[in-house]
Amino acid sequence: MPDRSLKGEHYHRAELRIALDPSHPEHLQPPPLPRSHKVLDIGCGAGQTLIAAYPDRISFGLDIDLDALKLGRSLTDRVCFVCSKAESLPLPNGQFDMVIARGSLSFVDTTSSLKEIHRVLRRNGELWMALEPFSEAWSQAMTYNYKGWIFFAYIVLNSVLFHLTQKQFPLLGRYGSFQTERGISQALIKNGFEGISIIRGKDFLVTARSR
Ligand SMILES: C[S@@+](CC[C@H](N)C(=O)[O-])C[C@H]1O[C@@H](n2cnc3c(N)ncnc32)[C@H](O)[C@@H]1O
Repeated sequence: MPDRSLKGEHYHRAELRIALDPSHPEHLQPPPLPRSHKVLDIGCGAGQTLIAAYPDRISFGLDIDLDALKLGRSLTDRVCFVCSKAESLPLPNGQFDMVIARGSLSFVDTTSSLKEIHRVLRRNGELWMALEPFSEAWSQAMTYNYKGWIFFAYIVLNSVLFHLTQKQFPLLGRYGSFQTERGISQALIKNGFEGISIIRGKDFLVTARSR
């Protein structure tokens, strides 16, 4: 999963190197797809995952970080970058065969984002997500100062709320949470997904299909 101790351009360039190196221990990529399949990456950063996984097509990457998207534009012309929020996608209904979200759903209003992802996926379209488990949020917390601990307390509260009700609240305009298997499964079902598969190992991988 992404190393969040790195910031901005350093982070995105480091993740691109990892994405291009299948032997790297942190290498984690979505599955290969037929070339005709249209892919959208939510929280794509500089498009690192798309550049490495789907170089054989024009794909779509969406992020709120304009600087990351500008970096992405300097790295590839195979990705259409869109600057927007995951919670409100400026994209038409039923357009995509696959939506991926690698390490990004921990920073968004998950339920609103899943609703939007479902809307832009075609029927039987696939969703692939790499999520953040508690262990990762906890190891990050070890590096925090007191402000970080206040934000961590918010993340824990928000995550418990999501686990129980699939709802979240923002703090100072930002979202933060880790996911549980129950919370994400319930949220997927409520938002029109089926065929949910969860793999827990070093990574927390969830796939589902749009009904
Ligand atoms: C940990 S990075 C993951 C980047 C990339 N997917 C990867 O795997 O390296 C999380 C990304 O989510 C983006 N992000 C955060 N909140 C967002 C939101 N509400 N809508 C869209 N993107 C968001 C951030 O700007 C950042 O690029």
